[in-house]
Amino acid sequence: MPFTRITAAEAASLIKHGDNIALSGFTPAGTAKATTAELAKIAHAEHEAGRPFQVGVFTGASTGASCDGCLAEEGAIRYRAPYTTNSNFRKKVNSGEIAYNDIHLSQMAQELRYGFLGPVDWAILEVCAIEPDGKVYLTAAGGISPTAARLARKGIILELNAFHSPKSIGIHDVYEPKDPPLREPIPIVHPNDRIGTPYLQLDPSKVVGVVECNIPDEARSFKDADPVTDKIGERVAEFLLSEVKRGIIPQSFLPFQSGVGSTANAILGALGSNPEIPAFNVYTEVLQDAVVDLMRHGRVKSASTCSLSVTNEYLQGIYDDIDFFKDKLVLRPSEISNNPEVIRRLGLIAINTAIEVDIYGHANSTQICGTKMMNGIGGSGDFERNAFLSIFTCSSVAKGGMISAIVPFCSHIDHTEHDVNIIVTEQGIADLRGKSPIERAHAIIENCAHPDYKQLLWDYLKIADKGQSCHKLSAALAMHDTFLREGDMRKTDWAAYVK
Ligand code: COA
Repeated sequence: MPFTRITAAEAASLIKHGDNIALSGFTPAGTAKATTAELAKIAHAEHEAGRPFQVGVFTGASTGASCDGCLAEEGAIRYRAPYTTNSNFRKKVNSGEIAYNDIHLSQMAQELRYGFLGPVDWAILEVCAIEPDGKVYLTAAGGISPTAARLARKGIILELNAFHSPKSIGIHDVYEPKDPPLREPIPIVHPNDRIGTPYLQLDPSKVVGVVECNIPDEARSFKDADPVTDKIGERVAEFLLSEVKRGIIPQSFLPFQSGVGSTANAILGALGSNPEIPAFNVYTEVLQDAVVDLMRHGRVKSASTCSLSVTNEYLQGIYDDIDFFKDKLVLRPSEISNNPEVIRRLGLIAINTAIEVDIYGHANSTQICGTKMMNGIGGSGDFERNAFLSIFTCSSVAKGGMISAIVPFCSHIDHTEHDVNIIVTEQGIADLRGKSPIERAHAIIENCAHPDYKQLLWDYLKIADKGQSCHKLSAALAMHDTFLREGDMRKTDWAAYVK
């Protein structure tokens, strides 16, 4: 290998206060881990010495403890985009210490190329193999790596992570679109189509060093399924089947996208185990263990994803069985896995989880009580806005019933009433298609609200001013306000808010 071997500490020492780093990966899967962990130590030492040390961080999506976790803890992140799930990071964002730009994941790479987010100084990429001419093979995710590598003006650091087997070579389809006015149609017409190369071609002169390491992916663990997630899964499967029976969804079914977490697992489990639903294709951004199982059982025919956000056991299982998965599994950069043009063309059934939805069908995926960031919008907007069928799920209540997930008006809106077709809670399904706002309100309150909150929501409609959307503005956020003051939305007294 013609490239210099360096330690992670040496790699980190190249990065200076004020630099912007762009990482491989999408979720902790495939994220470069060695250099950022050392960077946090440098930040710690600099801060101890009374000197400022902060960087900007650009990623595909969330990262793990060795990036967002330790960098946030050391106060080493000035700015970051896009999605993250880390609790240290969340605290610093909500206390105003980190500037967090929560953008659609499909837009991240192009916004870097367009120059919207400032320069990329360093690309730090995790790879499983390197060729002398600068061809590298990414590990468990596509992310923003092609763009990060091309834009990096100070250099590229490669982390050659032996945890990821080179057996996976061939799983990626690397493709970077041209920018307007030269952009061409993205020629994916089937979820499994390959349009690029299995490798990422780097400019070898930009590679400043190779860090050899053996670090497992920092796979997230999710809550176990519970009766609520199981019920939601069951309802979604029944609903989709009824849509096939009445000819809305074709008999051959449509490609499927679902978010991560226990609800997504329950939905996939319910779809997979229902023999009336034909084997289907997945076109998504994150692949979980449940899809791997369904592929092995022939229930999922092929899966296109940005990342293998699976447990390490499942990841090694895929590498060990690569001959089975190679022609069924394709990993893409995030601007392709989440691309609106492709999603609209393929006609996806998109299912994601919301924090809250309101009676008119707006959905909040990101901010608790309108101010506190949870994670971010992730790819939910990319998929839901452009899907054939846009479905949001959530439990009808949170925090032991003190919060209703169905509210008069969302305290923050990520997905508007124009983008949401179906809402599913464990209570039932509201089909919003073809309905006026007031018809939607009736369907959502009647079918999705928890019994503890139904009357409260009907009473809101009684005090609301008539209009296209009926609202009493002084009371529209009264349930949130009551929760913040009294700890329980059920104590909402509309009379106190009617002015
Ligand atoms: N008000 C306050 N807190 C709420 C809430 C509400 N209306 N609804 C949920 N929560 C809390 C839960 O109590 C839980 O808190 P805890 O961590 O302290 O237990 C937390 O939010 C997560 O909720 P949970 O019910 O466990 O669902 P989840 O793990 O599926 O997460 C989202 C839900 C919305 C936070 C998550 O799906 C997300 O970040 N979505 C945006 C990104 C996205 O959709 N990506 C799509 C493709 S992967």
